[in-house]
Amino acid sequence: MSVLGLGIESSCDETGISLVEDGVNIIANPLFSQIELHKQFKGVVPENASRAHLEKIPYLVKEALEKLGDRKLDYIAVTVKPGLVGSLLVGFNTALALSRIYRVPIIPIHHLEAHLYAIQIEDKLTQKPGEVTYPFLGLLLSGGNSALYKITALGEVQIIGDTLDDACGEALDKAAARLGLPYPGGPYIEKAAKAAGQQSKKNPLPKILKNQKSDEFNFSFSGLKTSLMYVLQKIEKGHLEKYSVEQLCYFYQERAFELISRNLKNAILHHGIKNVIAAGGVLANSMLTEHLKTAVKEVGAEIQIPPLKLCTDNAAMIASMGHLYFRENRIESIEKVTSDNGFS
Ligand code: KG4
Repeated sequence: MSVLGLGIESSCDETGISLVEDGVNIIANPLFSQIELHKQFKGVVPENASRAHLEKIPYLVKEALEKLGDRKLDYIAVTVKPGLVGSLLVGFNTALALSRIYRVPIIPIHHLEAHLYAIQIEDKLTQKPGEVTYPFLGLLLSGGNSALYKITALGEVQIIGDTLDDACGEALDKAAARLGLPYPGGPYIEKAAKAAGQQSKKNPLPKILKNQKSDEFNFSFSGLKTSLMYVLQKIEKGHLEKYSVEQLCYFYQERAFELISRNLKNAILHHGIKNVIAAGGVLANSMLTEHLKTAVKEVGAEIQIPPLKLCTDNAAMIASMGHLYFRENRIESIEKVTSDNGFS
């Protein structure tokens, strides 16, 4: 008999509820994006985010649960970390209420790990589901995080590369704002870089320095952001030749993607793990995915990336990862989940 799980996502600026069968088939997946709300501030305002989650979540729950019909719900998986605390609380309290109504367990989910498990989800339009085989390296690039994980089993996660300052998506968004492009800037930078085409000119932005220690694969993008400011100042003062916004976007992306590919290749070689899963909103960038595919090939590894619509925040990935815990019967009491995650 099939297993039905409800996923709840409210960690940042997307409210998502998803009904997923056997961890792979999406039955319902309503999502509300708060981008319009945060656009005017060029970033997420936490208080506004939690209010918007609270306002939208009942409608999304109703829409998803209508698809349940008279079938039985088996579990509720909910994002408990990391995220904005007020926003997480909205999702968790929704899970608490629904778990009492449907008498099902709550499975707490780490949002960043769940991004990687999105490859298990069937995408009817483009591909069959990918496969999670252990051990694997997980590359996560989103608006708030750039990280590399070594994952040896479900929930057995070691962080081998972390966000030292601005996350990759954040660095793209900030550069876009500086260049007068709309928020969130990542997709606009990609579009402009594509329009610039392959560049024969030398990149005026310096390469991002290597990590000092050979077993650290951290990500630092704040230097790149500062370099862009200096280049713009030099252009304004006439000390440097003029570049178009499109060219600057191309050069900025080039430097950012170089660092990501270098870290990933070094981590593959250092840990001897040739199986990579990459996810997070920045993976919606097709120039980046091409870069990464070439990079892993050079070191004899393989990379899996979820379909575009599952790269950004969604609740299907939460339900899908929850299914793995449910299948292994790794279920704790609601009281323990509540206190372990600081919601009591
Ligand atoms: O994982 P995600 O959807 O959510 C949060 O972290 O909240 O990632 C959002 C980030 C933003 O910084 C956005 O600019 C970036 O992903 N992003 C992109 C593209 N689409 C979204 N960055 C580069 N190229 C894109 N096509």
